[in-house]
Amino acid sequence: MRFFIDTANLDEIHQAQKYGLIDGVTTNPSLFAKEQQDWKELAAAICKAVDGPVSLEVVGLTAEEMVAEARELVKFGPNVVVKIPMIMEGLVAVRQLSQMGIDTNVTLVFSPLQALMAAKAGATYVSPFVGRVDDTGADGMELIEQIVTIFNNYNFKTQVLVASIRSPMHIVESALMGADVSTIPYKVLERLAKHPLTDKGLADFLADWKNTKGAGR
Ligand code: E4P
Repeated sequence: MRFFIDTANLDEIHQAQKYGLIDGVTTNPSLFAKEQQDWKELAAAICKAVDGPVSLEVVGLTAEEMVAEARELVKFGPNVVVKIPMIMEGLVAVRQLSQMGIDTNVTLVFSPLQALMAAKAGATYVSPFVGRVDDTGADGMELIEQIVTIFNNYNFKTQVLVASIRSPMHIVESALMGADVSTIPYKVLERLAKHPLTDKGLADFLADWKNTKGAGR
């Protein structure tokens, strides 16, 4: 499973790169808004810093507007993936962009049928939002299972990019289901390696080492 980081914050991206864990980046308009920086400068810097796909989202609502924006977004780098909202006009845009050889990530996916439609339109990735589904009282992971099954049944090349991740268990379950990518917020990424028994075990080993003959520092 590939790990992307879900952020437009360069410090978080650099820190994640230091751990060697990051295969790509996803952004959205809300993540850019949080940074309070010129979005074009930031998008260019992210695309340059990352050796992997970087999703940048369009804000137009017609296929024509989305395709025009996509043409501009891909100028930020060869690794740009154009993020398109899961609406009917979005599907028209995805089909056109796919024919133009531009990678797409269909976002705001909340049902297996939406994912199937995006795959049929030729999307490179679909982004089901598991955390936001959980927030409604439904089961976000059930959505991932359904999408993975449908894509496997029909050999779609479209990759399942699990988004809106809130906890490490979302990633474990996604990996068990065979999803292709998890896009992970930095605060969740930091928790992935954490285990209380690792911390306790390490503390015990270090304490015992102090009492080991000839090992005093
Ligand atoms: C994915 O591409 C989205 O940017 C993101 O995962 C949404 O997450 P949220 O529901 O935490 O805003």
